[in-house]
Amino acid sequence: MGMSKSFFCFSFLVGCLVFAVLVQSQDQSGFISIDCGAPAKSAYTEETTGIQYISDEKFINSGVGNSITSELQNKYKRQVWTLRSFPQGTRNCYRINITSGSKYLIRANFVYGNYDGPNRLPKFDLHLGPNLWQTVKITNPSGEVDPEIIHVPSLDHIQICLVDTGSGTPFISAIDLRTLMNDTYVTQFGSLSLHSRLDLGSTSKKTYRYSDDDYDRSWSAPAYNPNWAQINASISSDSLAQNVYKPAAIVMSTAATPVNEIAPMEVSWAPENASDQFYVYMHFAELRVLEKNQTRSFDITVNGDLFYADVVPKYRSTNTVFSKKATSGEKISFLLQRTHKSTLPPILNAIEVYTIKDFSQSETEQGDVDAITTIKFSFGVTRNWQGDPCGPLNYIWEGLNCTYNGQNSPRITALNLSSSGLTGQIDPSITKLTMLEKLDLSNNSLNGPVPDFLSQLQNLKILNLQNNNFIGALPTDLVEKSKKGSLLLSVGQNPYLCESPPCNKKKKNNIIIPVVASVGGVLILVVATATLFLTLKRRKPRGPLETSQRVEKIEEKDTSLQVINRQYSYSDVLNMTNNFNTILGKGGFGTVYLGYIEETPVAVKMLSLSSAQGYQQFQAEVKLLMRVHHKNLTSLTGYCNEETNMGLIYEYMAKGNLQDYLSGNGSRSKFLTWEDRLWIALDAAQGLEYLHNGCKPPIIHRDVKSSNILLNENFRAKVADFGLSKIIPTDDGTHVSTVVVGTPGYIDPEYSITNRLTEKSDVFSFGAVLFEIITSLPVILRTHEKIHISDWVNSLVAKGNIRAIVDPRLNGDFDSSSAWRAVEMATTCVSSNPNGRPTMSEVVNELKECLAIEVARTKNNGADTGEAVELVSLNMTSTEYSPLAR
Ligand SMILES: *[C@@H]1O[C@H](CO)[C@@H](O)[C@H](O)[C@H]1NC(C)=O
Ligand SMILES: *[C@@H]1O[C@H](CO)[C@@H](O)[C@H](O)[C@H]1NC(C)=O
Ligand SMILES: *[C@@H]1O[C@H](CO)[C@@H](O)[C@H](O)[C@H]1NC(C)=O
Ligand SMILES: *[C@@H]1O[C@H](CO)[C@@H](O)[C@H](O)[C@H]1NC(C)=O
Ligand SMILES: *[C@@H]1O[C@H](CO)[C@@H](O)[C@H](O)[C@H]1NC(C)=O
Ligand SMILES: *[C@@H]1O[C@H](CO)[C@@H](O)[C@H](O)[C@H]1NC(C)=O
Ligand SMILES: *[C@@H]1O[C@H](CO)[C@@H](O)[C@H](O)[C@H]1NC(C)=O
Ligand SMILES: *[C@@H]1O[C@H](CO)[C@@H](O)[C@H](O)[C@H]1NC(C)=O
Repeated sequence: MGMSKSFFCFSFLVGCLVFAVLVQSQDQSGFISIDCGAPAKSAYTEETTGIQYISDEKFINSGVGNSITSELQNKYKRQVWTLRSFPQGTRNCYRINITSGSKYLIRANFVYGNYDGPNRLPKFDLHLGPNLWQTVKITNPSGEVDPEIIHVPSLDHIQICLVDTGSGTPFISAIDLRTLMNDTYVTQFGSLSLHSRLDLGSTSKKTYRYSDDDYDRSWSAPAYNPNWAQINASISSDSLAQNVYKPAAIVMSTAATPVNEIAPMEVSWAPENASDQFYVYMHFAELRVLEKNQTRSFDITVNGDLFYADVVPKYRSTNTVFSKKATSGEKISFLLQRTHKSTLPPILNAIEVYTIKDFSQSETEQGDVDAITTIKFSFGVTRNWQGDPCGPLNYIWEGLNCTYNGQNSPRITALNLSSSGLTGQIDPSITKLTMLEKLDLSNNSLNGPVPDFLSQLQNLKILNLQNNNFIGALPTDLVEKSKKGSLLLSVGQNPYLCESPPCNKKKKNNIIIPVVASVGGVLILVVATATLFLTLKRRKPRGPLETSQRVEKIEEKDTSLQVINRQYSYSDVLNMTNNFNTILGKGGFGTVYLGYIEETPVAVKMLSLSSAQGYQQFQAEVKLLMRVHHKNLTSLTGYCNEETNMGLIYEYMAKGNLQDYLSGNGSRSKFLTWEDRLWIALDAAQGLEYLHNGCKPPIIHRDVKSSNILLNENFRAKVADFGLSKIIPTDDGTHVSTVVVGTPGYIDPEYSITNRLTEKSDVFSFGAVLFEIITSLPVILRTHEKIHISDWVNSLVAKGNIRAIVDPRLNGDFDSSSAWRAVEMATTCVSSNPNGRPTMSEVVNELKECLAIEVARTKNNGADTGEAVELVSLNMTSTEYSPLAR
């Protein structure tokens, strides 16, 4: 923005005059133009203005994309055709990086356009960081609301928040940010909220924006005023010498002037609130070539006081007269009165009126904001932690406490994440919360050592780590502070924690001793498994030549415990789960607890007495489970079988079950992309395919559902819960008859009628899961009547709109042919006739293709490296890791 300018200001008057010459090339370098609700990664140039809009996906991770009705799309610019609505959470915020200290014009656009059908006009609050910007009230479904503010942000980002106040779902259509010159629109305090910006001489009723106006201010035509006449001249932006405010040339080339040439020209309005404070900017340019004996000069008064004396507009050059101090009153009346020497009436080309918004609440200190944001993501905190952490007062992030020190930025002094289902380790960014006095992380499943860095928190007075799974020794600094009495330290109920090294390892040793001999088959298995691991280890480096080998590769490091299956006593189980301290989940067959074998987490499923099938059957079940080994099936690491205490010990799956991710329950921070979803579907399909074809006799899972599909830390899936599985006798036909079991919505209707159980029953259930993966909806939709998800999807397939079927949170960020094929596959899986359903092998092949299409797309977008593609093609040809059963 190179420019030369001169700037004059006469401070003895209330008003101030600027006339300056400057030249600036037009570009959009100071613009951020966001189309809310547009498909992820989309970007386009809006036709009428030439402004380049981008999707809002980088700036927010909540809300749902929607579109206004197509009739209204003709009326509005493209950036408001889509919008993002916020049916969930009270405060949802955009976070937009900017340059702190620069002056910005910030505009929010709202066009409701009956996007949600019901035509119930919402009212909600718009916040800028910790302050109320304004209440947005939609009064006309096809109207537009577009508040605008001139503001100097103090942080390196701004947060624009939509706040649900109980009067309808908040939404937003577009956000514009424009950098302004620092020395324009200067106020004594506060920010300037736009009241009106008028192109006074306009007769065209047109609104001008970029590229007419370099700063993309929008200038609208005034209401008809019978006392005013219009004069005009044809001025191009090149010929109009512009000043630092640079109103658009097209706006300056028309002016209003009183019809009665000797009467003053009045511009007035009645404020809603007499204490509202106004700043006014008037722009003048002479449009006539004056004769020698002609003059145009006038004084400006505001409510009777002189505002500016003797304005003489210059020919084809913009002069701006503006307030240096705010004006207020019941009525604001500006009079432009010609001076006695003037032969011509006053003119006024354009006017801007702003009110002061005093954003009194400072934003939380930047370092604290950065630290707490990192903590939020590293722990996957699911509370409504949006917007400024410490403000406004009634929206402080739940679990935080702050100090407010006058004009200074608030600081975070307390963090309470007790009983929040936290897992993993404490993030070091916590040390950046330097004013922290209280830290409560009690009653979670945090693990790893208690980090040394906690002792860097100089102001910490209370530290509660009770009831977690920390291991090892406490940092000596913390222990010392606690002994000195400067820190109240609580660490009870951490079974593997000790106060000081060397730690007593007795507890751990208790459960390491294997009792191999007590189940006959296990010993052989141990040998077989051990041999296998050795074989794998040796073979791995030999590369892909040995395609005839059954085991070709392990594509990723298997994080499952490479511990040999073991039997454990009940007291071992009590030890490893710390007396069943942490519940991971509950199912029809019992409760799953978090446990540790040595320092490795495991999931311990205790079968409830009512469902325990007796010693014999349990024994059989365990033997079955031990045979089953596949990268897409959760592996059994041990079991307990002591009288009525029957338990199965599985590898721990860090990210819990798929259903929680799809429904947004639990401590789930990651949003699943289409590619993630296809990987998960493929993984689960491969697990089932292995049960059906890789096991002899084949195993039918019988309870395939999304809550039985577990995710590891890389969001790869394994099928869990074989509690219901039964061996199909291979000698007597193709089915077994048994009591109908399963979960509503997933049960094969054919099976529930005939009791004939085949692999195709699992295929049906898998189809239902695939629909869930595609739509993120539950298998049974509880609208006014219960509808199965397949019927709901079918009703939309006819309309051919894939975006209506796929989870709207994906915002169209997927390859539609990939999505269509997945929908078709799910539809054939749930065919009512079992013969019409594909086999799991066919499902696996089709999903691989869906995935390959999507991966090719994301690769083309430059979003990914080629690695994923290679993985797909490798997977397609390789036999799965299936050591014992094939
Ligand atoms: C904003 O800046 C932060 C670092 O200050 C960066 O991590 C983040 O990705 C940026 N966000 C966007 C949308 O560019
Ligand atoms: C405005 O002021 C800020 C902070 O003083 C500075 O970083 C920025 O470069 C200035 N912008 C212009 C256009 O002068
Ligand atoms: C002024 O406006 C009138 C009517 O809109 C138009 O006919 C005329 O050409 C304009 N004059 C100039 C100098 O642009
Ligand atoms: C007018 O504004 C003042 C200060 O902003 C506020 O205290 C007062 O309640 C407002 N009055 C009305 C009628 O809105
Ligand atoms: C100004 O001068 C012109 C001739 O140049 C004349 O026609 C006109 O009447 C004069 N107007 C005034 C107000 O003296
Ligand atoms: C926050 O601090 C205030 C003052 O110290 C205290 O009254 C309040 O209970 C604290 N709130 C929480 C959630 O710790
Ligand atoms: C943290 O919050 C829990 C309730 O959620 C409360 O019982 C506990 O006292 C709080 N801890 C501190 C240090 O204030
Ligand atoms: C521990 O947290 C769980 C939820 O995570 C909660 O149900 C339980 O009441 C909490 N226990 C205590 C003692 O706060």
